[in-house]
Amino acid sequence: MASILFRRQYYVIFGVVAVLFLLFHNVDRDRLSWPDVALPTGNPLPLPRIQHQFPVESDAERNERAIKQRSVKDAFVRCWTSYRSRAWMSDELTPISAQTRNHFGGWGATLVDSLDTLWIMGMKDEFDHAVAALSNISFDTTTVKSVNIFETNIRFLGGFLAAFDLSGDDRLLEKAVEVGNMLYAAFDTPNRMPLTRWNMRAAAHRKPQIADPAVLLAELGTFSLEFTRLSIVTGDPKWFDASQRIIDALQEQQQHTLLPGMWPMVVDAKNMVFDKLHDFTLGSMSDSLYEYLPKTYALLGGLVPKYRDMYEAAMDAAIRHTMFRPMVPDNADILVSGLVTAKQEDGKTVYRRRSEGQHLACYTGGMLAMGGKLFNNQTHLEKGEKLTNGCIWTYKAMPTGIMPETFFMLPCQSTTHCMWDEARWIDAVMDRAEVPPEEATPEKSAALISHKRLPKGFTAIPDTNYHLRPEAIESVFILYRITGRSNLLDSAWDMFRAIDTNTRTELANSALSDVTVTEERPPMTDIMESFWLGETLKYFYLIFSEPSLISLDEYVFNTEAHPFKRLLPA
Ligand SMILES: *[C@@H]1O[C@H](CO)[C@@H](O)[C@H](O)[C@H]1NC(C)=O
Ligand SMILES: *[C@@H]1O[C@H](CO)[C@@H](O)[C@H](O)[C@H]1NC(C)=O
Repeated sequence: MASILFRRQYYVIFGVVAVLFLLFHNVDRDRLSWPDVALPTGNPLPLPRIQHQFPVESDAERNERAIKQRSVKDAFVRCWTSYRSRAWMSDELTPISAQTRNHFGGWGATLVDSLDTLWIMGMKDEFDHAVAALSNISFDTTTVKSVNIFETNIRFLGGFLAAFDLSGDDRLLEKAVEVGNMLYAAFDTPNRMPLTRWNMRAAAHRKPQIADPAVLLAELGTFSLEFTRLSIVTGDPKWFDASQRIIDALQEQQQHTLLPGMWPMVVDAKNMVFDKLHDFTLGSMSDSLYEYLPKTYALLGGLVPKYRDMYEAAMDAAIRHTMFRPMVPDNADILVSGLVTAKQEDGKTVYRRRSEGQHLACYTGGMLAMGGKLFNNQTHLEKGEKLTNGCIWTYKAMPTGIMPETFFMLPCQSTTHCMWDEARWIDAVMDRAEVPPEEATPEKSAALISHKRLPKGFTAIPDTNYHLRPEAIESVFILYRITGRSNLLDSAWDMFRAIDTNTRTELANSALSDVTVTEERPPMTDIMESFWLGETLKYFYLIFSEPSLISLDEYVFNTEAHPFKRLLPA
């Protein structure tokens, strides 16, 4: 009897809950405006200084810097002018065929991504013209079937917020709120985890939304900077709340993964299971989640300590497992950020590292160097320097002077002592090419190395593209602002020259499909993504600027190089 009664009550409670759920789920989208996590209050902490105390420069130094800065600006102006005349309001200009591409929603990705660069480069008239055109961008319609929420957040919301922070122009804040509200609709799921690919049309028809059981870690975890800044400038905590829920859930499972401290590259947002799969990296597919931990800590003036805790725990694991020192001909003491696979064998977890480097992973140098300053950790600063030097080294090693998208190198046995051994490198090349040792002759290996155009130290280059990416110059820039080391200016200039010379078209600059070619000009893909103007040229410009221009002690860059104002102590 008692148990039936209990069950009946149970059903009643269940029914009420279900009815409430359905009611709220269908009533309206505004239900998500219950703000459960409030913005932190209190005085921002005085965090350690990040930038080097630069001495007064000589006239000669200033002149040299100004000439280089001018070259970077010239490259930007050329591309911007072509975009303005040939592809205005489109996402991208195709830099050879002078057509348009609209893969990012058709909301003028290049225009929006370039706003703060225009401001920073002092192109006030162009900036005004671009801001005036924003009223013509409508986030009610789109050119794409499914909106990439991550890309829209970092490029569009990030672009508007930074341009607003720099200029104070309210039209930019209006656009930020518009795109912020659109993104927020993708969080309208039962567990408040966002859809990372969002179908605008289905949402307009109020189709129920459920987060995906397989999403990329970076696409789930890269909202905190933009959403927090948007909540701060509007005073509406709903965005902060939305991103904080993800961070809280990730933190709960951080120590339960197969590599405690890090999260797998692919996670289950539907069931909120973030600790099951086996592959871990700071690179592609995970990257900006890690990057945003120390940056959101800085953005919030240290008022939310969990960002620091999560970052430090993640870096402990990453430093121990994902990075390797490659064996290189000049015995340079550099690091490359790779991948780790965790396997359960006889009840023990075994870690196997893949010695693959990626251009995308070059951001790690800047992140660790900045985190090292922010959290007073010399080890992190040193790792950041070595990772950045690894990227500089890899650029230099290529005949074009540009790093490929991905590559393999031979890890040293020891990180402290590692002498070049040509025979071991050749064996590793043959091994990577899956040539059985008994078939490996000196002729065969020489032919393979020459056919694959492998510079000494590289054992394979599976992806020879260069997409006009920023991550290497990003880290060089950050490390320069932190250390003031002038050889970093030289590296930046070498990189810029190599990139601009090889990628320049009549109108603009194009991505390359092969940076390993030696005889002819590298082949081009006729693509110029918006980050070339939004990030790559901005970092090149800033490294040759006065260090007070967008100081790292006042701003923090989102993963698309859009600077947001940090909360600073009064
Ligand atoms: C906005 O669109 C209208 C109609 O197409 C056009 O006349 C106007 O010049 C546009 N404004 C800007 C600033 O591009
Ligand atoms: C610095 O970082 C390393 C590696 O993550 C860690 O082992 C060490 O405890 C940290 N040192 C301090 C002073 O926090």
